[in-house]
Amino acid sequence: MKGKVFIPFCRPTIEEDEINEVVDSLESGWITTGPKTARFEEEFRHYHGGKQEAIAVNSATAGLHLCLLTIDLKPGDEVITTSITWPSTVNNIVICGGMPVFADVTRDTLQIDPLEIERRITEKTRAVIPVHFAGAPVDLDPIKELCRKHSLSLIEDAAHGAGTAYKGRLIGSDSEAAVFSFHPIKNITTGEGGMILCKDKEQAGRIRRLRFHGISRDAWKRYAKGGSPQYQVVEPGFKYNMLDLQAAIGLHQLKKLSAFNKRRKHLAKNYLDLLNDLEAIKPLATVPYPHEHAWHLFVVRLDIDMLRVNRDEFIASLQDEGIGVGLHFPAVHLQSYYARRFGFGRGELPNSEWNSDRLFSLPLYPLLKEDEQVRVVETLKRLTKRYRI
Ligand SMILES: Cc1ncc(COP(=O)(O)O)c(C=O)c1O
Repeated sequence: MKGKVFIPFCRPTIEEDEINEVVDSLESGWITTGPKTARFEEEFRHYHGGKQEAIAVNSATAGLHLCLLTIDLKPGDEVITTSITWPSTVNNIVICGGMPVFADVTRDTLQIDPLEIERRITEKTRAVIPVHFAGAPVDLDPIKELCRKHSLSLIEDAAHGAGTAYKGRLIGSDSEAAVFSFHPIKNITTGEGGMILCKDKEQAGRIRRLRFHGISRDAWKRYAKGGSPQYQVVEPGFKYNMLDLQAAIGLHQLKKLSAFNKRRKHLAKNYLDLLNDLEAIKPLATVPYPHEHAWHLFVVRLDIDMLRVNRDEFIASLQDEGIGVGLHFPAVHLQSYYARRFGFGRGELPNSEWNSDRLFSLPLYPLLKEDEQVRVVETLKRLTKRYRI
């Protein structure tokens, strides 16, 4: 990598307006959860049609935890999800006392397969957590129908889904519950952060309470002018609130979401054109229903049968050449904890396992330049040639 400029895997777009808004918060004397968090929730809600409740949290992981807590899993209750996800989707099921059940993905889209979900429903199933993978939506209609038919809760992991639409509707705009992430690699960021959109006001009230110790009032209501300092613990909760410092960034990021995603789409199309004649690298397929892709990630699969290196060796070479790489995601059911505790192993989810051995993600973010993309693809071409059997 000596002498080569590094192309990072991700880089958030933070401009003057985000910086000024954070400085404004710092100078205002109010830096924790307060008026800017409330405004961010309101604007996020309106962006998604204005019908939903919006609850800002300090990560999508926290948001998924709170949503799962409000469905009150009993020991042995099963929750169906995908293995091609960030571990926290699944960790939260276990933390809440549930049993994770994995449904396989469609091999070339990596979206959870509704038929696979149906096959795994038992009388112990309580919920389904599909992941809108990489910024494309899962096929929600058949999943919603299964949940309705079997009285299951549906919690959408929309960590990758800011700006994603399914059949003309933004993800989250009419979901029972959907959880977004604002981690720095996501389509919009607040540093760390997340947002829950949900329908039910009672569930939203409980999530709000659990977000802040399970007490009846947050800091803004206790310490701001006209507030009163008393509180009641209604049930033991967590410290998952979003800071105004974070919401200050989010307020401006949200305004730019559609421009960011337009740029992502343009860059993704460039990759698709540039990779067209590269046999050993296969991008994902387009999902076969009407949608708007937010292009959170550009995931490819390496044809390891054509090469004398495996995926890990290949991406080490790519990094050596100054190209940042991501892994989204090694299959969760093969992680040591899940294999040990639940006995999951290879052979159960052929499509997830096939992809888990081959996938990696290329740099994709609004600040990425077209000539950097050309360098990424030329490096891929050089390396696949070098390692060809
Ligand atoms: C699919 C998925 N779910 C959940 C999360 C957790 O998001 P956060 O980092 O905001 O907790 C991530 C993070 O990358 C993710 O990719």
